[in-house]
Amino acid sequence: MTSMECGLRLKWLILALICPLIAGAPSREGSCPEENLDIAGGSFTLSNGYSDGSYLQYICPDNHYPSISSRRCQFGVWTPKASSRKKAECKKITCPNPRVLENGEVAPYQERYYINDVTTYSCSSDYKFRGSKVRVCQPNGKWNGSTPICGRDYHCPDPGVPPGSSRTGSIFNIDDEVTYHCDSPLTLIGSKVRKCLDDGQWSGTEPQCYADFTYDTAMEAAEAFGNSLTTTLTVQQGFEDDQHGKKISLDRGGKLDIYIAVDASDSIDPKDFGKAKKIIKTLIEKISYYEVSPNYEILMFATDVDQIVKMRDFKTNEKARNISKIFEDLDNFNYDKKGDRTGTNIAKLYLKILDSMSLEQVQNKEDFLQTQHVIIVFTDGQANMGGNPKPKVDLIKNLVIKNNASRENKLDLYVFGVGKDVKKEDMNGLVSEKKDERHFFKLPDLDEVQNTFDLMLDDSTVVGLCGMQQNYDGSNKRSAYPWLAQLSIAQSQISDCMGSLVTSRYILTAAHCFKEGDTPDKITVYLEKNTDVKVEKVFIHPNYSLTAKQSIGIKEFYDFDVALLQLKTPVKMSVNLRPICLPCTKETNRALKLSDSQGTCEKHEQILLSNELVDAAFTSKMDMEKRSPRKIRRITVKLGKYLDACVEDAKKAKGIEVADATEAVTKNFLCSGGNQPQRDDVSCKGESGGATHVDKYGRLIQIGVVSWGVKNLCSKAKLDAVSVSDSRDYHINLLRPDIQSFLKKHLENDKLGHTLTFLP
Ligand SMILES: *[C@@H]1O[C@H](CO)[C@@H](O)[C@H](O)[C@H]1NC(C)=O
Ligand SMILES: *[C@@H]1O[C@H](CO)[C@@H](O)[C@H](O)[C@H]1NC(C)=O
Ligand SMILES: *[C@@H]1O[C@H](CO)[C@@H](O)[C@H](O)[C@H]1NC(C)=O
Ligand SMILES: *[C@@H]1O[C@H](CO)[C@@H](O)[C@H](O)[C@H]1NC(C)=O
Repeated sequence: MTSMECGLRLKWLILALICPLIAGAPSREGSCPEENLDIAGGSFTLSNGYSDGSYLQYICPDNHYPSISSRRCQFGVWTPKASSRKKAECKKITCPNPRVLENGEVAPYQERYYINDVTTYSCSSDYKFRGSKVRVCQPNGKWNGSTPICGRDYHCPDPGVPPGSSRTGSIFNIDDEVTYHCDSPLTLIGSKVRKCLDDGQWSGTEPQCYADFTYDTAMEAAEAFGNSLTTTLTVQQGFEDDQHGKKISLDRGGKLDIYIAVDASDSIDPKDFGKAKKIIKTLIEKISYYEVSPNYEILMFATDVDQIVKMRDFKTNEKARNISKIFEDLDNFNYDKKGDRTGTNIAKLYLKILDSMSLEQVQNKEDFLQTQHVIIVFTDGQANMGGNPKPKVDLIKNLVIKNNASRENKLDLYVFGVGKDVKKEDMNGLVSEKKDERHFFKLPDLDEVQNTFDLMLDDSTVVGLCGMQQNYDGSNKRSAYPWLAQLSIAQSQISDCMGSLVTSRYILTAAHCFKEGDTPDKITVYLEKNTDVKVEKVFIHPNYSLTAKQSIGIKEFYDFDVALLQLKTPVKMSVNLRPICLPCTKETNRALKLSDSQGTCEKHEQILLSNELVDAAFTSKMDMEKRSPRKIRRITVKLGKYLDACVEDAKKAKGIEVADATEAVTKNFLCSGGNQPQRDDVSCKGESGGATHVDKYGRLIQIGVVSWGVKNLCSKAKLDAVSVSDSRDYHINLLRPDIQSFLKKHLENDKLGHTLTFLP
């Protein structure tokens, strides 16, 4: 702190001496002139009035951009200089020149193409068309769809000429190279040089030409970043995730060090500071959805660099590893505490990361070699001190890659350029270049970065993960209950039952849904639209016996009321079709934010059934048109002091005549309903077999299977009854050892579907 204040004072001193010389006589000491700052067709904001260090940002109406995006007041003058001859103006956004198509036609011919202009593409005869035939100029300064290409057969397909660029190289056999340039003043993002590889594909990624006003949409960034990150974070799951034709780069238990750094310089205002913190949290949360336990270092940087969490601490100190604690520290990291934030020292940031990485290498060389290193930096890109960061990044590359091409995949360098002043050409050297992956993103503001992460996992890239749901957006409630299944059994007296998708090949439901003679071919499982599936085998819990206790006065005994339906073929996962999490599985550790070493069945029980009243839910039958639940039944599972009364009410059920209610409601049941301390929703006919689930950190975990109830309070007219004092529902408790062993037997070693790993 002291040195910073000192530096600040020194700067004032210099200012006072040299300002009059370089800037003419300024009106006030250390302030910049107010003249000639206005922008034709727009307005501007100032971070600190006309004082030294103040940051001026121009604002233009929609579909326009400022010819000069910003100025900074330094030593009494504006940079860039404000003069009456070269005033800022708001201009209409254009898309890069599409008339670069080779061997084809572009219509219409225009000098410039503005937002909403439509272009169409066609090929000369003898050439094959690839890409989009119609493209529209988007508000972010890019054409939608993909680059149109008129190509001929070579070893590699014609890589095309993206709008705004030119290409040298027109033969595409093995080892041939093509080189791209962007028209001035556009800058090239992606690979400048691409090489035709043995496998018939091009190295690197397609280049794109960006103007200062070109941005990625949150959707574009989410898709590209999500794909790239998934490649890094996906752990081998016992089934081939070949959706993207990518090899999975981490083995189970693979080591992963992630460095996240956010720019806190004063071009980011206090409001944005809060947003930046939220972005870090969202990113960590999203990463926690994957089956890996990364180590983190989190940094904030401006003139100086602050480490919120250091990599070494994270690895050696149990307390530092606590994610809630990290979030708390982030919250406490105060805007005002930052001191001088006029600088953006990106070089120093990378140097700090290099230091941390070097320390890791010293600690354990072997571990370091096996570790995947990921650096994600968010910056407004206005490096104005510390010099060029690229040499520092090169040192990081040397440290990790060690000049060994086969180690290149061990390092991922991402940069999110946020705002108008990101110098894209400076960023290209700071990011990784990997085949068909993007590592640099340009977004207009932090809200769009947040949107990017919010959207990121809605992509179908991580569909195999259990309990993932997409928030119900009003149009697609199914995506909030993607595991929902409804069963129908032909010619059965028992009406429909509900079930839940627990792996790609198994539906969990209640045993009492089936009678003798209900062969698998009579069962249909309704999932999302157009994926109604047939059943190969029905597995009933071996101890399930409805008549087992008739002799002691229990007409129908529902203990062990669980069944698994093995589907004929595994279903293909999508946003609307994903498994729910089962407790006591390794797959659920991540959902509960447990490391693999912390995860035991006992620990899961502590987390899931810790309170006397556990908020849970199950669903009614489906709306067959929308394939979503008609009703969500909210309940509280009764434990502790509420449990006995809940069980006792079983004696009020028809057909139960025992003195001891626990004969009917064994320890294998969970209980809901009653009116103490509040009323619950009750189950209705056809809801047996449904998943009783809890929501933990946005992931859904099934704790029970809806089995039976004391009273039927529902009727055709009344689909949403609530409980009275003695109406109770009983659910098979999935955490019980005898239920676990049944699930484990069938789900752990499935050859066709994906498998689950059960915890001790
Ligand atoms: C581009 O956008 C237009 C208008 O929004 C749409 O009609 C067209 O299908 C889009 N093209 C592609 C390839 O996405
Ligand atoms: C993690 O940190 C939070 C917040 O400081 C604290 O309440 C919690 O007890 C910590 N958990 C562990 C396991 O240390
Ligand atoms: C390069 O890296 C690979 C994989 O990490 C390793 O197997 C190989 O020995 C390394 N080569 C050299 C020359 O160090
Ligand atoms: C379940 O059935 C098996 C054999 O079928 C038996 O050994 C076991 O004791 C039964 N378990 C319970 C809790 O009844």
